[in-house]
Amino acid sequence: MSMALELLAATGNAHKVDEMRAILAPAGVRLLSARDVGGLPEVDEDGATFRDNAIKKACAIAAATGRRVIADDSGLEVVALDGAPGVRSARYAGEGGNDGRNVAKLLAALDGRSDRRARFVCVVAVAGPDGLVGTAEGEVRGRIGDQPRGQGGFGYDPVFIPDGYEQTFAELPAGIKNSMSHRGRALAAALAQGLLRGQAG
Ligand code: IMP
Repeated sequence: MSMALELLAATGNAHKVDEMRAILAPAGVRLLSARDVGGLPEVDEDGATFRDNAIKKACAIAAATGRRVIADDSGLEVVALDGAPGVRSARYAGEGGNDGRNVAKLLAALDGRSDRRARFVCVVAVAGPDGLVGTAEGEVRGRIGDQPRGQGGFGYDPVFIPDGYEQTFAELPAGIKNSMSHRGRALAAALAQGLLRGQAG
């Protein structure tokens, strides 16, 4: 039998932590945030892939804190831009991670383009002080709208319209986004693989 588990979320992004909490709470997984542990060490996200970065963050922060950790590395891949902004999604318009500037740069790059297909990707990595427990991945496909719409979510949500919908992720209720998002699917896969079980690993 699995036990309820407490994990430290290895991210300073409060929106990500909110979503991860909402997704994992029904499974009995409790998430600690950076604030709950007095801050996290900086980890350079210099990996070539979402998986590399997620593993690096999870292992570094588990080693530094002695806790069981879950890291999320995620981003947007746009077909007409050969997969950009990809692993550079947070700093697409420069260091500092300004969502508004990132969205404006994306819309400018797609100006006049009819192929607006895109996907969000998320890799979660779980690690303990002794090393990596495992990883899981999720994606959601959709398209980039012509202008930002909606107040919910974060990042590129105001311009991402998931397949099967007309609203953006920022217009859809959080519960709908979480039920189909890259993050929701990666965390569901992590649960199904047993990566979040109490006494595992
Ligand atoms: P990182 O994983 O911290 O390197 O940054 C991920 C970046 O990808 C975020 O800063 C957002 O720009 C984007 N991103 C990841 N997930 C989402 C999402 O659920 N909605 C909107 N943007 C996202």
